[in-house]
Amino acid sequence: MDKKVTVVGAGNVGATAAQRLAEKELCDVVLVDIIEGVPQGKALDLTEAAPIEKHDAHLTGTNSYDATEGSDIVIITAGIPRKPGMSRDDLISTNAGIVKNVVKEVSKRSPNSILIIVSNPLDVMCHVAFEASGFPKNRVLGMAGVLDSARFRAFISMELNVSVENTHAFVLGGHGDTMVPLPRYSTVAGIPITELMSQDRIEALVKRTANGGAEIVSLLKTGSAYYAPASAAVEMAESIIKDKKKILPCATYLEGEYGIRDLFIGVPVKLGSTGIEEIIEIKLTNDEQAALNKSAAAVKELVENLKNLNY
Ligand code: NAI
Ligand code: 2OP
Repeated sequence: MDKKVTVVGAGNVGATAAQRLAEKELCDVVLVDIIEGVPQGKALDLTEAAPIEKHDAHLTGTNSYDATEGSDIVIITAGIPRKPGMSRDDLISTNAGIVKNVVKEVSKRSPNSILIIVSNPLDVMCHVAFEASGFPKNRVLGMAGVLDSARFRAFISMELNVSVENTHAFVLGGHGDTMVPLPRYSTVAGIPITELMSQDRIEALVKRTANGGAEIVSLLKTGSAYYAPASAAVEMAESIIKDKKKILPCATYLEGEYGIRDLFIGVPVKLGSTGIEEIIEIKLTNDEQAALNKSAAAVKELVENLKNLNY
């Protein structure tokens, strides 16, 4: 393949993302993890599936960063996931140190790459990656909004018994309890869901979306969601690799857009071959803007806490 994507963290999200990247024949994949044998074993297993899945992507598993050199995109999933009773924010001190080290290693070897951050707490880890890489803001982005919007779309499709393909949804804000699902901009075949469902049902779906990660954690008990998160990260990578210029909600560094400054938070962006090509500012009602401001305040507090951590 003429594109190369490194996935750091060969755990649930990372290995599933590697599988989807290869099976879509988007790129060759380098899978990195600190556990000896795991990235090698998973890469070999995926390679052995290739004749059946009919793809020619090359997969390499490694514990060192040498093979990552010259990557076009680096997806960072390294870190610990939450367990029942934990919030994403409880992961901050462990994952900040991991993400910082990983970013230092990959940015040295792939100075022109685009970083897609997945590790939690997502918006804060984007700040860590932005600082550690020194990359321009169009090349550091976080995956959360695509996942949260996909959850909202799945629930809309279940509620109305319509194809998921007819659904569209936007969830903005930080990847946490304060995320901001936008029913006005969420549609079925172009029809806003506000015309298709009662306010009570919309509120129930919004609540389930905001609680979507915790719902899976409480079912799995030993980790967090990974199929949908991997799909979401790969949709972002695909838009970049194919220069599709999809408009997707991604964590991006705002410098005054939406009235928010110096903060990573989820808003719609255009994703193409250079990364974030445009931040799309949609009109929000006063209530929606207030909800986004509240979410931004929650992220800002965590970013401030980060400054006091020695990671
Ligand atoms: P996992 O535990 O299955 O995999 C994490 C992997 O990272 C492990 O294999 C571990 O060995 C590896 N790792 C740890 N330190 C490392 C280092 N220094 N260098 C390289 N690899 C290292 O966890 P899972 O489920 O894959 O989740 C990964 C992260 O992604 C978690 O922080 C989780 O909270 C986050 N996440 C974020 C989502 C989002 O929407 N942004 C959605 C789902 C997960
Ligand atoms: C999720 O939303 C754990 O952030 C992850 O599933």
